[in-house]
Amino acid sequence: MAKKDGKRYSCIECGYVSLVPSGKCPRCGAWGTLEEEIPVAPSMAAAGTAKILTPVDISTLEPPRRLASGFGELDRVLGGGWVPGGVVLLGGQPGIGKSTLLLQVCGHISSTGRRVLYISGEESPSQLGLRAKRLKILHDGLDVCCHTVIDDALALAKDHSLIVVDSVQAMRTSQAEGWPGTPTQVRATAQVCVNYAKEHGIPMVLVGHITKEGRIAGPMLLEHMVDAVVMFADDNSSVYRTLRASKNRYGGTDEMGIFEMRSDGLAEVPDPSYLYWNRSDGAVSGVVMTVIMEGSRPLVAEIQTLASESSFAYPKRAGIGLGANKIGMLLAVLQSRCALPSLRDDIYCNVAGGLEIHDPGADLALAASMASALTGRNVLSECCLIGEVGLAGEVRPVSGLAQRLREAARLGFKRAVVSSREEKPRLDAEIELIRVLSVGEALARAS
Ligand code: TYD
Ligand code: MG
Repeated sequence: MAKKDGKRYSCIECGYVSLVPSGKCPRCGAWGTLEEEIPVAPSMAAAGTAKILTPVDISTLEPPRRLASGFGELDRVLGGGWVPGGVVLLGGQPGIGKSTLLLQVCGHISSTGRRVLYISGEESPSQLGLRAKRLKILHDGLDVCCHTVIDDALALAKDHSLIVVDSVQAMRTSQAEGWPGTPTQVRATAQVCVNYAKEHGIPMVLVGHITKEGRIAGPMLLEHMVDAVVMFADDNSSVYRTLRASKNRYGGTDEMGIFEMRSDGLAEVPDPSYLYWNRSDGAVSGVVMTVIMEGSRPLVAEIQTLASESSFAYPKRAGIGLGANKIGMLLAVLQSRCALPSLRDDIYCNVAGGLEIHDPGADLALAASMASALTGRNVLSECCLIGEVGLAGEVRPVSGLAQRLREAARLGFKRAVVSSREEKPRLDAEIELIRVLSVGEALARAS
C-alpha cells in the first residue's frame, strides 16, 4: 500500500512497486528501471472517450493484404509477409546480419516501385551507401535517414510501404527523458513507433540488440508491445543463419527460415535438408537418419552417437542438439526393454550440421543410433527411422508422416521404419515402409 501522499515507484521490467526510489530493483535486480508512477486523475480515468463504438461482425473482416519481403524464408517465419500496421522486433547478436537482411528487404521492396524508409541510428549515410552498393540495392524508392531522434525521423515518412528502425536501442524520443538505450527511452521509442504504425497502417520493423542471456535488451514490456518478435541466430555455424519467431500475432512461431551469409549479402538456402545430412548413410555404426518437422517443413537430420569406454565412476552422457534428459531416458528404455547390456560406456550424441532437435519424432532414430554405437551393428542403408518412443518401449505415431516420407523419398531414401499404429499415409513417392510396434522390433528389422 502506498503511504498517504507518498510517491510510488514501479519497476518497468517486472512490475515491482516500491515506496522509496532506488537505483536497483530489489525483485529482478535490474538497474535504472524503477520509475515514479504518475497517478491518473480520477475524473480522467473514469471518463473514457467521446467516441461511440459499434461492434463489428467478425465474418465481414477481411484478412490483411501482406507485403512480400523478397525472401521466402522471411515470409515463412512472418506467416506470409509484412502486415499493414504490424510491428516486428528483429533481435540478434551484433554482427549477425540484421541490418544486412533489412537493407536487402528494403532493396527488394523498392525495386518493385514502392517506397521504403530505413532509419538508422547506428550508421552514417556513407556507411549505408557503401553497404547498399555491395548489396546491389541502389534503387530509387529506398530512402535512408541517419538520425537518432525517432520523432524527427518519422516526420519524414509519407507514402512509404515499410519503415525500418535500426535500432530501438540507438534511438530516443523527445517524449521521454534519459539516454538512448535506457529502459525508459527504449520503451517510449517503441511506443512512438507502435502508435505510428497502427495510426498509418504501415508495417514497421524495429531492430533490437540482445543481451548476454539472449534476451532483447531493454524492458520486457518491449516484447509485449510489438506484434511479432523474430530472432536471427547463427545456430553454431559461421555461415548459416536461422530466423525464428518467438512471438507472432499474425502467424505461427514454429517456422524456421535459413540463410547463408555471402560476400554480397544474405542468400536463402533453398534445400536445407542437404545442410544437415552428410550422406554418410549406413556406412558407420552409430549414424542414423530421421526426418524431423521444423514448423511445416520436413528436414532430414543425421544423428550420430559415439560410445567409448568410460574412465569415470559415472559414465558420461553428452548431447549436442539433443536434450540430455532425452538421451538418458532412451538409454534406460534400451536397457530395460531391449535387453542391451549394462551401459558402462560414455555416450556422446550429436546432430550433424548444428541442428537442434525438439521433435519427438526423432526418438526412434536416437535410440537406434545409441544401440548401433553400443553394439557396433549398422542400421540398414538408405533407411530412415521416424517415431516417438514411450517408456514402455513402444513406437508411437508422429505428426506429418506423409510429408516426412515424401522428403525422405525425394532425397533418395528407399525405406523408412515407422510405427505400426500410423495410418497408411497417402504417398505418390516410392518408399518401403517397415512398420514396427516397439524399439526392440525396430532394432531387429532395421539392422
Ligand atoms: P550486419 O548486418 O551489420 O549485422 P548486425 O546489423 O546484426 O549487427 O552484418 C555485419 C556482418 O556481416 C559483418 O561481420 C560482415 C558480414 N557481411 C558479409 O559477410 N557480407 C555482406 O555482404 C555484408 C553486408 C556483411
Ligand atoms: Mg546493424
